[in-house]
Amino acid sequence: MPKAVYFIDGKFTEDAKIPVDDRGLYFADSVYEVIRAKNKRPYFLEEHIERLKRGLLELGIKIPVYLTQIDEIIAKALVRLNEDESSIYIQITRGKEQRSHLPGHNLEPTFILITSKFKPLADNLLKNGVSLILHEDIRWGRCDIKTTMLLPNVIAKMKAKEKGYFDALFYKNGVITESTSSTFFAIKGNELITHPRDTGILPSITRKNVIEVIAPQLGFKIIERPLRVEEIPDIDGAFLAGTTYDILPVNKIEDVSLQVSDAILEIQSAYFRIISDITD
Ligand SMILES: Cc1ncc(COP(=O)(O)O)c(C=O)c1O
Repeated sequence: MPKAVYFIDGKFTEDAKIPVDDRGLYFADSVYEVIRAKNKRPYFLEEHIERLKRGLLELGIKIPVYLTQIDEIIAKALVRLNEDESSIYIQITRGKEQRSHLPGHNLEPTFILITSKFKPLADNLLKNGVSLILHEDIRWGRCDIKTTMLLPNVIAKMKAKEKGYFDALFYKNGVITESTSSTFFAIKGNELITHPRDTGILPSITRKNVIEVIAPQLGFKIIERPLRVEEIPDIDGAFLAGTTYDILPVNKIEDVSLQVSDAILEIQSAYFRIISDITD
């Protein structure tokens, strides 16, 4: 069974290579998505592709023709991969040309799609939660676009690991924004507090599900407001939300311990039910 299936610029290939002269390599001039599939059924695919297209439009990168055939390409890739749980990584770069900050006209975007086996987080993490360090959010001002400029995220996650923590929680001007690859929610009473949707965070698809589907279903009130770092000791609990983490409870932020309440586990179960309804 292949470990990964690659579809690069229109062809399935075993020998995936990108030329050095790609603006994705030189400038991180590219956007990406990570989509999950279960039983060979991708979920929230339309939402991921819409976000990808919006990023391309915002950055003035041409929309590659493959996006119009994405359902068929992914279906074929998932059959080739033949796994129960898989991830689909799509990256689109502005194109290939000799290194120059100013891009040339009519560049053909590079289209990369990689499907591979996905290993969900261990049950004990999903049940007992994870620890987070606080890290200054030094990312650029358009975190609403899912670009591959992920060095600040990588460094923050490395720092967390060094300190024996699971991940890092970004803060900017004293306000919590999000984690390195997920949205942050705090719980206070029956309120779910999360950063307002603006250019400071990614418009997460899991976040949208929590806000629009799960919170109304379970009777939580959504409060989209800046949460200040000094408020952390006063919250009742917290969780991360994202495609790869699902709903992941937080049990510690720096040295503040947090309870993994039944409420968080109910939100997690509600999310898993949504996925099962789509993929079973
Ligand atoms: C910075 C950041 N925030 C939030 C998310 C969660 O987004 P989604 O729920 O769409 O996976 C991600 C996912 O990659 C991310 O990188």
